[in-house]
Amino acid sequence: MHAALTLRRRSAEPRSARLAAERPDVRRHLDWATAHFGDPRVAVWHWPGPLGGARTREQVRERLRIQAAQCARDGYTLWMWREIGSGELIGQIGLQPADVEGERVIEVGWSVAPERWGQGFATEAARVSLEWGFERAGLREIVSFAMVENASSLRVMEKLGMAYERVFPRAGVPHALYRVRHGEWQRSRPAPVGSIEHE
Ligand SMILES: CC(C)(COP(=O)(O)OP(=O)(O)OC[C@H]1O[C@@H](n2cnc3c(N)ncnc32)[C@H](O)[C@@H]1OP(=O)(O)O)[C@@H](O)C(=O)NCCC(=O)NCCS
Repeated sequence: MHAALTLRRRSAEPRSARLAAERPDVRRHLDWATAHFGDPRVAVWHWPGPLGGARTREQVRERLRIQAAQCARDGYTLWMWREIGSGELIGQIGLQPADVEGERVIEVGWSVAPERWGQGFATEAARVSLEWGFERAGLREIVSFAMVENASSLRVMEKLGMAYERVFPRAGVPHALYRVRHGEWQRSRPAPVGSIEHE
């Protein structure tokens, strides 16, 4: 195969029926992400209480830099997702390392633009992210957690077939922890979910 084509296929980011992922990139995504994570309707769920709520442009810039580096190192991160039909960014969804009461885990997480809530985007992109984590990155298990009051986020975990484990404190705030293992995912997942290109 032609070298350039091989390179493009290897670096392909995940896609779903309606969405395409992009590697976080300060030049392409800073404006959208600054507005999104500066919005209290969104930030209150990501950085509750002592974590400080809405992020500043500089904090968002640093997050994007870290996520770009994580993607280059691990092959996954919290990708930026663009709706294929409209070309609009709709959210940031994907995989990142986290610490749950001292356990090093990989978390699947999501954040969708408020005007796009309820359209199934978080579930659609998270499903492809889980597939990427298990099939491409070789992860054995993936967790997710959300404040116990975050009903829509917990609903996404249920729809993904993740299993409730326990409530734990994060920054003093009760969070529900869910987990899915590779074998369980293989048994429970529906028919082909994304268009991850396998070399
Ligand atoms: C959580 C979030 C990502 C969900 O995104 P989304 O694209 O709307 O999610 P989906 O459409 O795939 O699924 C949402 C589900 O929650 C349900 N839901 C929404 N509000 C709900 C509520 N108050 N109670 C119960 N279920 C609710 C929806 O009906 C849907 O379930 P259904 O398909 O069975 O009807 C989005 O609300 C968001 O970005 N919130 C702010 C940031 C955040 O909370 N991130 C997660 C931090 S852990």
